[in-house]
Amino acid sequence: MTDSPLLLDTTRVLTVHDVHVVRDGHVALRGIDAVAHAGRLLAVVGANGSGKSTLLEVAAGLLVPSRGEVRRREGLRIAFVPQTTALPAHLPLTVTDIVAMGMWGRLGAWRRARRADRAAVADAVDAVGLRPHAARRIGALSGGQRQRALLAQALVQRADLVLLDEPMAGLDARSREIIAGTIGRLTADGAAVIVVTHDLGELHGADEVLTLHEGRAA
Ligand SMILES: Nc1ncnc2c1ncn2[C@@H]1O[C@H](COP(=O)(O)OP(=O)(O)OP(=O)(O)O)[C@@H](O)[C@H]1O
Ligand SMILES: [Mg+2]
Repeated sequence: MTDSPLLLDTTRVLTVHDVHVVRDGHVALRGIDAVAHAGRLLAVVGANGSGKSTLLEVAAGLLVPSRGEVRRREGLRIAFVPQTTALPAHLPLTVTDIVAMGMWGRLGAWRRARRADRAAVADAVDAVGLRPHAARRIGALSGGQRQRALLAQALVQRADLVLLDEPMAGLDARSREIIAGTIGRLTADGAAVIVVTHDLGELHGADEVLTLHEGRAA
C-alpha cells in the first residue's frame, strides 16, 4: 500500500521508522516501525525488557534513537504518563493542583484559570474516579490513584498524542475499567493514543497492536 500524502498530513501524528536504540551497550530496539494516527489506539505488548518503555520514550522525544527516524506532526502536543512516577511524599500539591497543571500549556503563565478551566479540571478528576480524593495531597494517594491523577492531567492537556506506559498495572478492576473508558474518550476526542500493556483484554479494543520481542517487532 502506498501512503497518500493527504492521509499522511491529516491523520498521522507520529511516524517511527527503522528505529534502533542502544542503552547501556545493550540494543533495546532494533528496526522498529510504528505509526500513531489521530483518533486511534495503538497497543504495545511484549515481555519484560522487550523495549516497550523505550519505544514510548522515543515517541515522547526523551530518547534519541541511534539509528532511524522519528517524525512528529508540527506543533504536536504530547502527554506522557511514565511507567513509574517518583513523586516526593511531601509535595504540597493536591490532586486538583496536579490535574490543573495539565492546563498550563494552554493557559500560558499570565492567564488565570477561568471558571470553564476549573470545570474541565473537575471533569477530568471525575472521569478517572478521583472526586472523593480531589483535595488530598498527591503524596498521600496510593500508586494506582496517583497514576489516575496523572491520566486526568493528560486529559486536560488535550494532547494530540497521549503515551501511557502500563496505566493499569496493579490497579483493581474498577480502576482498570475507568482507565479503559478514559482511553476510549481520548481517542473519541481525536487524540492518538499509544498504550503499553501486558493484557490486551483490559482495553476496550485496540486499532493496532505492536508486539515486541527482544527489541524487534514480533
Ligand atoms: N534507563 C535505562 N538505562 C539503561 N538501560 C535501560 C534503561 N531502561 C531500560 N533499559 C534496558 O533497555 C531494554 C528495554 O527495556 P524497557 O524498559 O524498554 O522494557 P519494557 O518492555 O518496558 O519492560 P517492562 O515490561 O519490564 O516494563 C532492557 O534491556 C533494559 O535493561
Ligand atoms: Mg516498561
